[in-house]
Amino acid sequence: MGYWNGKKVLITGGLGFIGSNLAHALDRSGAELTLIDDLSSGNRFNIRGIKKVTVHEHDFNDARLLADAMTGTDAVFHLAARTDHVAWREDPVPYVQDNVQGTLLLLDAWKKLAGPKPKIIHTGTRGEYGPQTRLPVSEDARPNPLGLYELTKWQSLQMMELYARQFGLTFVHARLTNVYGERARMDTNASGVINWFIRLAMDDEPIPVFGNVQRDVLYVADCVDALMALAETPGAQGTFNVGNSQPVRLHDAVDQIISAAGHGRAVRTDYSPERKAQEPGDFYPDIGKIRKATGWTPKTRFTDGLAQTIAYYSKNRTQYWQKQKPKGMKQP
Ligand SMILES: NC(=O)c1ccc[n+]([C@@H]2O[C@H](COP(=O)([O-])OP(=O)(O)OC[C@H]3O[C@@H](n4cnc5c(N)ncnc54)[C@H](O)[C@@H]3O)[C@@H](O)[C@H]2O)c1
Repeated sequence: MGYWNGKKVLITGGLGFIGSNLAHALDRSGAELTLIDDLSSGNRFNIRGIKKVTVHEHDFNDARLLADAMTGTDAVFHLAARTDHVAWREDPVPYVQDNVQGTLLLLDAWKKLAGPKPKIIHTGTRGEYGPQTRLPVSEDARPNPLGLYELTKWQSLQMMELYARQFGLTFVHARLTNVYGERARMDTNASGVINWFIRLAMDDEPIPVFGNVQRDVLYVADCVDALMALAETPGAQGTFNVGNSQPVRLHDAVDQIISAAGHGRAVRTDYSPERKAQEPGDFYPDIGKIRKATGWTPKTRFTDGLAQTIAYYSKNRTQYWQKQKPKGMKQP
């Protein structure tokens, strides 16, 4: 019997990229799932094949829904968020509504639960660190975010720390790196640079490579393993980097993508002004803390992750290539 067998789990953002991969992994492990997702960037196809699941296609900013969905759960993975890194420059307030006020609503619903309360696993971002001079970057580095998206994730952390001090919240704030893999939106460059470059390569389009910074990349199955390990480990509390301590230069990553896809060509270009304003430079994380706490470490080589990702999208291209037009589309 594994840890998750028969456990009740809520995932907000469960129809999205990471949330749906997490749902598949938890389903395979025997968990009973509830997902909340308003389909603003999620995709129903992402959970095809999962049988034991309750899905609320609804905005998670709803105290009653959160209270009902959290009751009796063993773990809550809070992934729903505004995730576009640059769209806030035109329209900032929804980031605060979803990523700050929404997280507070969830924490307050958690506080009011009667009986045993679940651990909350929240997804932050490496972008919270912003530019840092000391690499690899450890959890002790002071955040220095360059964008509102990243700032709102840091604010969520601060609220969770407050709820831990005042009300005994057990939580993890997982600072995720550049995650790539299957079940991401592929109709926009807003869902991660590696996935977008994979699409361009598969379409034999020019790949605009701006800068040659060092970045770490993480295959989605490894990311999901990390989130589950952090949830399972009683002593895992607070902030953890979830990334890859082996960085890759962007030009090398693009070469590997082109070689895996068998198409595409790199074109050196300048940053757009808004990307330039938010470019933190070289980054890769110190993952010693999560290793020590849980034993987790990334297992998938970039070439293998790319091959699996490309195979998935080759088979399911029609589900991802067209712009999805669900209700209340939030991302460009
Ligand atoms: N993908 C990455 O590389 C990466 C990196 C760092 C952090 N993260 C974080 O991980 C989490 C998941 O990211 P993802 O890449 O899977 O993004 P995603 O956009 O694929 O998933 C987010 C999901 O949340 C849903 N959602 C958004 N607002 C909602 C609302 N108000 N009510 C209900 N559902 C809502 C969307 O429909 C979507 O399905 C996010 O919190 C993101 O900030 C992702």
